[in-house]
Amino acid sequence: MDWIRQAPEHVTCRPETKRMNSNPCLLLNPGRVHAGAGSLSALTELARYFRAQRVLIITTKSVARLVDAPRQSLEAAGLAVTVIASTPPEPDVADVQAIEAQARAAGDFDLVVGIGGGSAMDVAKIMAVLLAQNLDLRDVLAKKVEITSRGLPNIMVPTTSGTGAEATPNSIILVPEYALKIGIVSPYLLPDAVILDPLLTLSLPPDVTASTGMDALTHAIECYCSKKGNAFSDLYALEAIRLIARSIRKAVQDGNDVAAREDLLMGAYWGGVCIATSSTTAVHALAYPLGGTYRMAHGLSNAILLPSVMAFNQVGCELRFAAMARAMALPVQGLDDQAAAAVFVQALRELNRDLGIPDSLKSLGITPHDLEGLVDGAAKVTRLLDNNPRAMTREDMRHIYAALI
Ligand SMILES: [Fe+2]
Repeated sequence: MDWIRQAPEHVTCRPETKRMNSNPCLLLNPGRVHAGAGSLSALTELARYFRAQRVLIITTKSVARLVDAPRQSLEAAGLAVTVIASTPPEPDVADVQAIEAQARAAGDFDLVVGIGGGSAMDVAKIMAVLLAQNLDLRDVLAKKVEITSRGLPNIMVPTTSGTGAEATPNSIILVPEYALKIGIVSPYLLPDAVILDPLLTLSLPPDVTASTGMDALTHAIECYCSKKGNAFSDLYALEAIRLIARSIRKAVQDGNDVAAREDLLMGAYWGGVCIATSSTTAVHALAYPLGGTYRMAHGLSNAILLPSVMAFNQVGCELRFAAMARAMALPVQGLDDQAAAAVFVQALRELNRDLGIPDSLKSLGITPHDLEGLVDGAAKVTRLLDNNPRAMTREDMRHIYAALI
């Protein structure tokens, strides 16, 4: 596509220098992280560490059966446990308020545990604050009040390898009247502890493994090229790319491959650490209207957009693309950065194909009729577009979407 190759006037991909880059760095990382097969057994030990007596577990119906064992373990240790398993896939304000009312009716808690995907963990993170501080969720979302201190101690236990919500200080809530997801971002939302047990992800079906894994890979790739990227996100991004690239095909082919599952879970966690210290960019911005208006799965929309947006970003970012190609163990030895960058973009297309991810939005029902609405929606996400290494105009977005329809 010739328009992609036009002279880049506004490319600000950070150059590699002896001092990697000069962006200010802030590393946010949960306080304690237990990782590895069987590490869920650390939950009771962690509850004791936090001196908990009454534990609130927030989860979803789809993974509620995974809660039985930790619940029994906590109860055997003498703790009172309440389980709320009503978190929907994309919780909105009313959903969170209903869970808060349910929790308050159940009594006081001194520990919140989120077990599930991004939705359950996002609700658990904000619930720890709401229950401790009597804040009104709508006031927090409208930024009428600020979160000024930590909430109840909390532990996040992901059962998917994608969002990285277990590592971020964010809680994403859908606000139906704006048809928009709003992110509550506060350092006080950063989890106190995380358990990364790959055994909890074994039952994820192949398509969900593929799309959530590609979401995690997108986090790492975008953060590595983000204008907000820094020495910390660079480090974690390359490791996330290495782990996910070497294992995502294996995990999709054989869901019981524990080593591959462990790589994906760690990669998704490192991707979350990247988001916390850096930011995603145009892939996530262009995916927003696909999720908001068309309810397309977040990971799937990111996966479809990733190769096209990276082809656009390639101009001016060759050096970083070449580094990511090496992290993916692609055969780029002896190639100059420009050639290695092209191999990297092509490898993303091939990865999608191998994982069974469609190469267009057309097959998902998006038509040329939807084009302007998509561009309008994406153009509003300036918070992410501003971090893209290459300035992206509405015309650029139109080109990218149109080529996928
Ligand atoms: Fe994402």
